[in-house]
Amino acid sequence: MHKVHQGIATAMTAVGLMLAGLAQAAPNIEGLARTCNNCHGTGGVSVGTSMPSIAGLSEAYLKHIMMEWKSGARASANMTRLIKGYTDEEIAGLAAYYAKLPWTPQPQKVGADILAKGKEATEDQQRPQDGRGQRARRRRVLRRARQVRERA
Ligand code: HEC
Repeated sequence: MHKVHQGIATAMTAVGLMLAGLAQAAPNIEGLARTCNNCHGTGGVSVGTSMPSIAGLSEAYLKHIMMEWKSGARASANMTRLIKGYTDEEIAGLAAYYAKLPWTPQPQKVGADILAKGKEATEDQQRPQDGRGQRARRRRVLRRARQVRERA
């Protein structure tokens, strides 16, 4: 009877050690995410217009774009160097972590001038790629350049 108990105790210790080992081997994603949040905002929710929110984006997208920076297939002034310091496992963990957080839209002020520019750009894209469309596009580009010069 005593031997059996000892056996069980030994087995439980072994399992305990294995779990401790696993916990140590798995990357501490929340700890890693703190670095990201310095730029991307608390919980991956950005408050500024120059920084994208990353919370709530799809896991596949997050992993894909980070792996592209790591391999050099895609370049980013801010992300390329940084992401090279992470293992594939850490990148996968970060992607899963941010994908699970809620997407939080931030209200942004958009002036009428920006909306007009967006409308113009969309219309430019939709214009047929024939001679007339291209002449109209050229006139627009020249007009915009003139406006910029006049402002300067
Ligand atoms: C020094 C600031 C900084 C840090 C730290 C940082 N990022 Fe970024 N990140 C940026 C900027 C700026 C962009 C905008 C794209 C660019 O610069 O090419 C970006 C873009 C991204 C994007 C693309 C978002 C989109 O909408 O396509 C993802 C994903 C991302 N970062 C994830 C991370 C993760 C994960 C970490 C932590 C490991 C991290 N970032 C740390 C500055 C940072």
